[in-house]
Amino acid sequence: MQNRNSADCIVFDEQAEYCHQIASMNRGRNLKYYIETLGCQMNEADSEQISGMLIQMGYTDTLDIAKADIIVFNTCCVRENAEFKLYGHIGKLKTVKQLKEGLLIVICGCMMQQKHIVEKIKKSYKHIDIVFGTHNRHEFPKLLFRRITEKKKIYEVWEDNKGIIEKVPVKRKSIITAFVPITYGCDNFCSYCIVPYVRGREKSRNPEMIKNEIINLASEGINEITLLGQNVNSYNCGMDFPGLLYYISDISGIDRIRFMTSHPKDLSDNLIKAMKEIPQMCSHIHLPLQSGSNSILKQMNRKYTKDEYLFLIEKIRESLKDITISTDIIVGFPGETEDDFQETLQVYEKAGFDFAYTFIYSKRSGTPAANREDQIPDDVKNRRFAKLISLVNDMTLKSNINDENKVLQVLVEGKSRTDDLVMTGRTRSNKIVNFKCDTDFTGSLIDVKIVKGHTWHLEGEKI
Ligand code: SAH
Ligand code: SF4
Ligand code: F3S
Repeated sequence: MQNRNSADCIVFDEQAEYCHQIASMNRGRNLKYYIETLGCQMNEADSEQISGMLIQMGYTDTLDIAKADIIVFNTCCVRENAEFKLYGHIGKLKTVKQLKEGLLIVICGCMMQQKHIVEKIKKSYKHIDIVFGTHNRHEFPKLLFRRITEKKKIYEVWEDNKGIIEKVPVKRKSIITAFVPITYGCDNFCSYCIVPYVRGREKSRNPEMIKNEIINLASEGINEITLLGQNVNSYNCGMDFPGLLYYISDISGIDRIRFMTSHPKDLSDNLIKAMKEIPQMCSHIHLPLQSGSNSILKQMNRKYTKDEYLFLIEKIRESLKDITISTDIIVGFPGETEDDFQETLQVYEKAGFDFAYTFIYSKRSGTPAANREDQIPDDVKNRRFAKLISLVNDMTLKSNINDENKVLQVLVEGKSRTDDLVMTGRTRSNKIVNFKCDTDFTGSLIDVKIVKGHTWHLEGEKI
């Protein structure tokens, strides 16, 4: 089952040996790890693998950084300010490290795929013990073994992904929902985006591996899965994405299937059909628009026009009556005129989005848009951003008010953080519902009547 973008498979076995060796060195020492994850769900999924490896190496997790014997930062670089934040963070750890003998600090993830960052860490942050990237994260046990036994700092980053790494241990954050990566990397090269440079070329994971993982998750009691990829619609490994959805649809025990992200240029009629036919498919699509101006879309290298996008939305809404559609929007792309921005607002309204992640364009060195001279001044970007947010909030509230009096199925994820008597969960349309309840329904699917729509959540009553 090998196709254009399917991948060779790297198996974890060699690393498992390092895990055993470190675990026996650590035996009886009650060592703890602390992991902080920045960025997207793909990084969350990677962190679950890093946590899984740490557990195999004899560490247990702690949410208190002061108690940790090993601290891991899994970084993101999709926006520029993430870099400054990281330097702030690791700068502070220098004194922590001086006070705690044997404390190890590990930095990994997308930002480490950039050479200048690793150089800066080598030069200015000598208290960092290990640096690795996204493509060689499975080598963490070997690198940690070397750090412990050779007593020197380790900086090891692969330039591209040599294959998909399978059989890495995973420690899931949730016992109810789980991420399942189906593609790694991205081939789209949107002109503002750094992801293809730090995540490498797109590779699709073998469908049997995906299915086995989901079967195992179901047997562990997981109810909902989210298939992950930078563009799941270009999945291609002996079958396409809709084919994969049918292929996994006979797994029992999984009530809900979600996926993200979809690139509009690749969202096929067959996918809409699969969403209609497969009962486990949730009624939500995240479909980044980025801009509503044809000129900006072209400069972004997005490969669709606003009319094509709106036509797609219409088609989706026609077939999938209860669908919720969310999106990503960037304001202040180089050269964006006031008219371009107004078009974004108009298309946003026309599309009737239920929710959006909004971004101020951020220059990423190495991407084509970063070299442009017509960058938009900060005050203009900020003003546009405020206008966009106000529209997004108004429309989100409208969409939530529209759910009032409906009875919606909620997968209960736990108690609310602020009130012990309030449970929280998500609808099939991916909206957060809070409802009063004195029984702990965590992990159950229950029907909730929506009594009020707020901007950030729905308020419900258990029926
Ligand atoms: N692969 C996904 C998104 C990955 S990044 C997709 O194509 O939808 C998540 C979002 O970050 C993007 O959709 C985009 O809206 C935003 N983003 C990416 N690069 C950015 C940049 N340089 N400045 C501001 N926002 C950016
Ligand atoms: Fe970035 Fe575009 Fe790839 Fe998404 S599709 S990760 S925005 S290059
Ligand atoms: Fe950030 Fe890497 Fe995701 S750059 S958005 S963590 S793919």
